[in-house]
Amino acid sequence: MTRVAQAGVGGWGKNVVRVVGELAELAWICDTDGKRLAEFGSRYPQARTTTAFADLLTDDEVDAVVVATPVPTHYELAKQALEAGKHVFVEKPPAMRGEEMEELVALAEARGLVLMPGHLLLYHPGLRVVKQLVDEGALGEVACVYGNRQNLGVIRSNENALWSLGVHDLSVILWLLEEEPSEAVAHGMDYLQEGIEDVVFCFLRFPSGRVAHMHLSWLDPHKMRKMTVVGREKMVVFDDMELERKVTVYEKAPWEPASSYGEWRTRTGDIFSPKIANDEPLRLELQHFLRLVQAGPGDHREAHDGLAVVRTLDRLTTSLRTGAPA
Ligand SMILES: NC(=O)c1ccc[n+]([C@@H]2O[C@H](COP(=O)([O-])OP(=O)(O)OC[C@H]3O[C@@H](n4cnc5c(N)ncnc54)[C@H](O)[C@@H]3O)[C@@H](O)[C@H]2O)c1
Repeated sequence: MTRVAQAGVGGWGKNVVRVVGELAELAWICDTDGKRLAEFGSRYPQARTTTAFADLLTDDEVDAVVVATPVPTHYELAKQALEAGKHVFVEKPPAMRGEEMEELVALAEARGLVLMPGHLLLYHPGLRVVKQLVDEGALGEVACVYGNRQNLGVIRSNENALWSLGVHDLSVILWLLEEEPSEAVAHGMDYLQEGIEDVVFCFLRFPSGRVAHMHLSWLDPHKMRKMTVVGREKMVVFDDMELERKVTVYEKAPWEPASSYGEWRTRTGDIFSPKIANDEPLRLELQHFLRLVQAGPGDHREAHDGLAVVRTLDRLTTSLRTGAPA
């Protein structure tokens, strides 16, 4: 069984450690908060505990390190773990600059280690159905994709709405379209804390001509977790706020009858919701990581997907700061 050490057992890390404990041998728990560490140490008595990350790295029996600490610490901790020869699962985003992520990917490749960013939504059974519809051409040619990730709160103070919320939608958009944007534009406003944008609108144009948009905000009356894909023949909506109808396929499209002399009409057919498996995305994600660790890293696709996301976030940040497309 793979021996795993986890750093960070906060708000999200506590979910991660539960699943790690079920799927692997939880060898260490590390958290700089001594009180929290003691609480989790008594919950998982089989694991050793420490406030010093370096302790995980000196244990030769640890195969993999899971990093679920705050975003600004990710790059440094992931780098130290890779340098110590450990496979790494790191929560999103693994780095806050494209160059840092490039360095992590190169390090993992050079050492033959797995580097997997925590892009949870790519393991959501509902989005897997959307991806399948796109890949098999069921929607026709895809024209545009847009994400809505809005709510009132959680108001973060060490990252803006683009980095905190946008990383989810961006990972999905790049995975669905399988290309990186040729143009990235972001506009936003920091209403609550200076320099930390609460509301961000992003526009992405891709070399194929497809476009994408993201509305990201923790200053909004609607709790929305939605992704819409508009194809030339069908359209599909993934709505994570729905309990039963997470995915809805609309047989709606424009059409141009031969007799209409260039005038477009619209066609509305069935609207249906395919059955979506109830599997927990976090469990599927960590199962995938452990499979990679067992099999060896292969083509490093997950690490490169993470690089594309960080690189695009970096460009959107440049646009946000300069007001110009990046
Ligand atoms: N995939 C998802 O859906 C999802 C959801 C929420 C958060 N996250 C990610 O999970 C990560 C953690 O978020 P959170 O909400 O749990 O944060 P949090 O602040 O609640 O918890 C972070 C924990 O890390 C500890 N910590 C800080 N620095 C450390 C260090 N150097 N070594 C060891 N422990 C350290 C803190 O004491 C705290 O217990 C973030 O990267 C966030 O982006 C992912």
